[in-house]
Amino acid sequence: MTIAHRPSVTKAVIPAAGLGTRFLPATKATPKEMLPVVDKPAIQYVVEEATSAGLTDILMVTGRNKRPLEDHFDRAYELEELLAGKGDQDKLAKVRESSELATMHYVRQGDPKGLGHAVLCAEPHVADQPFAVLLGDDLIDPRDPLLAKMIEVQGELGGSVVALMEVDPEDIHLYGCAEVKPAEWPGGRGVDQGEVVRITDLVEKPDREAAPSNLAIIGRYVLDPAVFEVLHETKPGRGGEIQLTDALVELAKRTPGRGGPVHGVVFKGRRYDTGAKADYLRAIVRLASEREDLGPEFRDWLRAFVTTELPEMGY
Ligand code: G1P
Repeated sequence: MTIAHRPSVTKAVIPAAGLGTRFLPATKATPKEMLPVVDKPAIQYVVEEATSAGLTDILMVTGRNKRPLEDHFDRAYELEELLAGKGDQDKLAKVRESSELATMHYVRQGDPKGLGHAVLCAEPHVADQPFAVLLGDDLIDPRDPLLAKMIEVQGELGGSVVALMEVDPEDIHLYGCAEVKPAEWPGGRGVDQGEVVRITDLVEKPDREAAPSNLAIIGRYVLDPAVFEVLHETKPGRGGEIQLTDALVELAKRTPGRGGPVHGVVFKGRRYDTGAKADYLRAIVRLASEREDLGPEFRDWLRAFVTTELPEMGY
């Protein structure tokens, strides 16, 4: 198949059915995706990332208690009217922004049976086109575009593409881990040859000793629609859940035209993990420090906090 005949990627799937128990009690009545990172809900960064890569058809896979997600990406007429009446254009723009980003669709996962199962819920919407999957716990800095590179690699090489990142071997048990070899590809317009690898195997959350590398899957995927047929057959894996990683192991073995192969784009940019409390705090501090409006004041405070207040507190 030539590049010109390959269908381009236009749809993004964002699994958002998780219960967010790590952030209780904050997540008792609020979806974890709505927790603010500085002043924007985490999920809005993810939707903005998808739209920046040209994906304006977004399917969110949600569950019970996720209504605020739908409201956030919808119009808020009363609030808009109120702000318009006051002539507060700045705030009005902030309210409208999230409702104008993309065409949003929602499907409910019902039983939370794992990431593979969440992706399977997207099958009727996605049908037979390659599509992107973005996991909300990983935020990718907009200055280091990753998804556009992955889409380019998928367009050139076909099959599926996952984002990989080198992590401390101590942390590999938190991720899907890839065994790789060099890719047979000279590189493309926006992607260097060294950034792309061919995936030969994957293991979901291995022990440090069993890990084939320190290359972790971070939460960005561009998938061939053959993944659905594979997921239908995928048995529950680690944690009794249907794992997307296990379906990708099967696709990695397949030939082009049958859903294979699987390539990895090794990301070296800025990634913020918001999935665990300490990482979430780090993400906020980093992003707030760099904000044009908040940064100067916050950086001054942070400097004084580290050099004076922390020692005074005995740390
Ligand atoms: C999921 C995937 C895992 C991947 C991770 C990235 O795990 O199963 O392979 O490395 O996302 O964030 P989760 O963190 O949802 O348990």
